Amino acid sequence: MAKELLLLLIFLVLTLGLPSPGAAQLRYNYYASTCPNVENIVRNAVAAKFRQTFVTVPATVRLFFHDCFVQGCDASIIIASTPSNRAEKDNPDNLSLAGDGFDTVMKAKAAVDADPKCRNMVSCADILALATRDAIALAGGPSYAVELGRKDGLSSTAQSVAGKLPQPTFSLDQLNSLFASHGLTQTDLIALSGAHTVGFSHCNRFSSRIYKPNNGVDPSMNRTYAAQLRGMCPTNVDPTIAINMDPETPKSFDNAYFQNLQRGMGLFTSDQSLFADRRSRPTVNTFAGNKFAFERAFVTAITKLGRVGVKTGQQGNIRRDCSMFN
Ligand code: HEM
Ligand SMILES: *[C@@H]1O[C@H](CO)[C@@H](O)[C@H](O)[C@H]1NC(C)=O
Ligand SMILES: *[C@@H]1O[C@H](CO)[C@@H](O)[C@H](O)[C@H]1NC(C)=O
Repeated sequence: MAKELLLLLIFLVLTLGLPSPGAAQLRYNYYASTCPNVENIVRNAVAAKFRQTFVTVPATVRLFFHDCFVQGCDASIIIASTPSNRAEKDNPDNLSLAGDGFDTVMKAKAAVDADPKCRNMVSCADILALATRDAIALAGGPSYAVELGRKDGLSSTAQSVAGKLPQPTFSLDQLNSLFASHGLTQTDLIALSGAHTVGFSHCNRFSSRIYKPNNGVDPSMNRTYAAQLRGMCPTNVDPTIAINMDPETPKSFDNAYFQNLQRGMGLFTSDQSLFADRRSRPTVNTFAGNKFAFERAFVTAITKLGRVGVKTGQQGNIRRDCSMFN
């Protein structure tokens, strides 16, 4: 009898999904009865957007990261400002939150809602989490099962962003303490930073590294790379100019980012410090030498990222329009 009970318990744990600490609410099959086809619908919408522009990938991935770090993964970043409320997306740190990330979520949401069974059943926060996974896979990165069941947040203010996002000037200690505040380890930080293998940066985010007094450059930066960057980003550069963060394979979600760090080709201080600091260098070397080790660690880390500050029950709702509160 005890054996039957044990088997039943194991069965229940397996079918309901093993709850993880702090995220007991999320599960893989959350929409199994309400919108069983949600994964295909979102995947097709993201693929259609990807065929229009590769920017879909970096824009969506960065949007997910910023959403999760400010008030949790609750799609509060997608809310548009109104005359009475300056929303998260309109904080001064948003220059590069490319419109294509927002557009990806809006299009996927429209596709989900076009299925009568799914209409207003799937949260914008979950759509963003799924779209992020699909974008990464489309760029050749790992695919993975996405935990679901996030509600959409009920507030979004520009002030709430202050101090929540890592700055490109951050040291390893500053990065570690910010990531640790969300339950993310140094290995998670390093793996997630690998997302800088795709996408762009505006010149002003790193110009202080390539224009030091007396014609100098940051000593941790590769001289050849610094010269190339100076060519693309002259001192009086147009602030809208953006350059590839991974100069080698900018459209591939691979481990080239870590190989770049080994050659002093990290764009930001925050990137290069992962290799410059001997506490994190061994992990960078592992990811540089082994694509699968990077992918495994990335999947673990982005799954943990997706649990940060998740809203459930009455803490949130399912937005009809991802850019507006109901
Ligand atoms: C570790 C600390 C991090 C810092 C300091 C940082 C900083 C930045 C900065 C300054 C930019 C360029 C913005 C611009 O000028 O346009 C950028 C771009 C980007 N970041 Fe990060 N980031 C960090 C971590 C992450 C993480 C964890 C992810 C996702 C998992 C991520 C994904 C991206 C992507 C995809 C882009 C390119 C965006 C685009 O092309 O539209 N970053 N990041
Ligand atoms: C970013 O914020 C500025 C104001 O700080 C705003 O004018 C701009 O439209 C915002 N960009 C996006 C993509 O939301
Ligand atoms: C600088 O980058 C070049 C080109 O990728 C590379 O050949 C060289 O080894 C790098 N230098 C250092 C010191 O890593």
